[in-house]
Amino acid sequence: MSTEKLLSRVMEAEPVGSRSKVTVVGVGMVGMASAVSVLLKDLCDELALVDVMEDKLRGEAMDLQHGALFLKTPRIVADKDYSVTANSKVVVVTAGARQQEGESRLNLVQRNVNIFKFIIPNIVKYSPHCILLVVSNPVDILTYVAWKLSGFPRHRVIGSGTNLDSARFRHLMGEKFQLHPSSCHGWIIGEHGDSSVAVWSGVNVAGVSLQKLNPKMGAEDDGERWKDVHKKVVDGAYEVIRLKGYTSWAIGMSVADLVESLLKNLHRVHPVSTLVQGLHGVKEERRDPVGGAEGAHPVRRGLLEEMMCVSIFCHIKAFGDITPDIRLFPHPPGGGRRTEEKHTRGGCPEGLDSGFICLHKQTNKNSSKCS
Ligand SMILES: NC(=O)c1ccc[n+]([C@@H]2O[C@H](COP(=O)([O-])OP(=O)(O)OC[C@H]3O[C@@H](n4cnc5c(N)ncnc54)[C@H](O)[C@@H]3O)[C@@H](O)[C@H]2O)c1
Repeated sequence: MSTEKLLSRVMEAEPVGSRSKVTVVGVGMVGMASAVSVLLKDLCDELALVDVMEDKLRGEAMDLQHGALFLKTPRIVADKDYSVTANSKVVVVTAGARQQEGESRLNLVQRNVNIFKFIIPNIVKYSPHCILLVVSNPVDILTYVAWKLSGFPRHRVIGSGTNLDSARFRHLMGEKFQLHPSSCHGWIIGEHGDSSVAVWSGVNVAGVSLQKLNPKMGAEDDGERWKDVHKKVVDGAYEVIRLKGYTSWAIGMSVADLVESLLKNLHRVHPVSTLVQGLHGVKEERRDPVGGAEGAHPVRRGLLEEMMCVSIFCHIKAFGDITPDIRLFPHPPGGGRRTEEKHTRGGCPEGLDSGFICLHKQTNKNSSKCS
């Protein structure tokens, strides 16, 4: 007796393919932490993994597949060929060099730009309507690079930005007050890196502004030394890298948090890297459509892909220092908007920035601002 008799087919083909496919490019420490976090949150019905290291890739995929019993993601696939990524809704890019002990994120830029020149066109080829979520460092710059290389509308290319930095801040705040981080509100914005900025005026617990209680918050003569909390955020990654060689778990969870907002259309506000030209006084520049004329339109009709920039507070000094060396970038125009925080101003190519983004459907009237 054949076991084929166990199930009778009532139709030839599967009626639909994947509805919520997520791809992770790069199965290193960050890629796998992101993949596991996405899986444990039951966010997708198919997970695809891509890397250039074939054995590592196969090993990671098998290891995850062996846990299928404990997961609710029915398909986990992996290949170095990008056809495996076809029809992804969200593609998380974590591939590339990472910081060595004491190395700054900006040091990685040219190496990772070269890697992106291969990766991004391949993603676009197989998932022309996906949202690109860039994680590789320096994330703000590489988000810009990914946008340029993809030809996608800007609302479909975001970087993980300071979502992790803000989480680190809220964790430290929670430790200070013995509260859960979800009850501690605060935003770190600007560059994901050494020149990030803490928005002291926004720090609150249950709507009570801490700056109103302590007007010197964040200043040099602040007796509570909140500046040191922000310094701990900035130094946090260096410290983890010194101790264990890389960072992985928190960024993985932060990536899954962003993927959740995107896939479930949650309308949550996140501090991420996005292009802000045309907003907040940043000079508008036309950009050439690279990836084909239909690129922007299907996504605008999609269920979950539309995003609106709701508030963007600062731009990134680091761009002024780094962009002249990268051929993809025009020379940064310089100047910029002032924020309530005192920090050094620098140039910003075509307005790339870390800003707050609210993820929501396209029905909002203001959404065209962001496309
Ligand atoms: N944005 C953030 O908050 C944040 C936090 C932590 C790390 N990162 C960055 O994430 C990136 C990955 O870090 P990691 O610790 O996982 O590094 P890792 O070295 O462990 O993994 C990188 C992976 O990328 C793969 N890779 C290299 N070239 C590739 C290509 N052309 N196509 C596909 N895969 C390729 C490598 O084979 C490797 O598996 C780094 O740039 C790191 O700085 C970002």
